[in-house]
Amino acid sequence: MKNETFTLITGASMGIGKAFAFTCAKRGMNLLLVALPDALLEEVQRELQTLYPIKVMVYGTDLTAEGAVLKLADFCKEKQLGINMLINNAGMGAGGRFENIPLDKYLQIVNLNNKVLVLMCHYFLPVLIQHEHAYMLNMSSMEATLPLPYKAVYTGSKNFVYAFSLALREEQRHGPLTVSVVCPGPVMTNPDALKRMDAHGNRAKWVLCRPEEVAEYGLDGLLKGKNILIPGKVNWFLVKLMKLCPTGLKMRLLERLFRVYSTH
Ligand SMILES: NC(=O)c1ccc[n+]([C@@H]2O[C@H](COP(=O)([O-])OP(=O)(O)OC[C@H]3O[C@@H](n4cnc5c(N)ncnc54)[C@H](OP(=O)(O)O)[C@@H]3O)[C@@H](O)[C@H]2O)c1
Repeated sequence: MKNETFTLITGASMGIGKAFAFTCAKRGMNLLLVALPDALLEEVQRELQTLYPIKVMVYGTDLTAEGAVLKLADFCKEKQLGINMLINNAGMGAGGRFENIPLDKYLQIVNLNNKVLVLMCHYFLPVLIQHEHAYMLNMSSMEATLPLPYKAVYTGSKNFVYAFSLALREEQRHGPLTVSVVCPGPVMTNPDALKRMDAHGNRAKWVLCRPEEVAEYGLDGLLKGKNILIPGKVNWFLVKLMKLCPTGLKMRLLERLFRVYSTH
């Protein structure tokens, strides 16, 4: 495996992460796919290896477990995988009134969306910058720029990803590493996403993206060196428009639109 480059994708067993795996595979990139240890990950590996002449390795772990990210970094070192692209995609959320959701759930969200991201960057940045060109894509959300009532912790955690990525990008400006942040609107992936879409009825179809669209747009934007990637023209326009709106008015509007989440 020595001297071969690999793209490491977290949360690659389903949803947007899986779409990233296929998008990267189409472009001939070798892959290291990480997700919770279950059969899905190996299924994705099999599908990819049947379709594309690339190397696909899988690593099942709960990234939030103590020492898990360090063990993953050690695994890459031991196998001499030249990680030159990192897609920090794994993440989770919860919707509802703040006081109705158990604290444990919030701590899991912050742990996976933020602590794991910082750990991944801490252990893999030194590996990435050994390459002449290296890439890091961090998964935020449109909700980072439009703080959503009834998803306060998730929104806050994605805001962290957003700000962290832009700051890190600037620090790395004169080196080999490009950092981009992707901010999708709603994407039909898991049963939770489906439930959220249903709650919005017809309105949702204007902003809905397929996982494949997010992955294509995200990977293109990253390779072109763009900073903030908002898939979908309507979503992009909404983010720009909402920036012009006074904060108080914007927040009341968002509360109205997303009140349906209050009982989730
Ligand atoms: N879906 C949306 O509407 C949407 C919109 C904007 C942003 N996003 C963001 O996009 C990312 C992916 O979302 P998605 O909807 O595709 O998610 P998903 O379908 O729920 O998939 C999550 C992936 O992360 C893995 N994962 C979860 N917890 C993990 C842990 N502790 N350790 C290792 N892997 C773990 C899962 O592994 P298993 O398969 O083994 O469970 C799975 O591969 C998230 O960061 C999410 O916040 C999603």
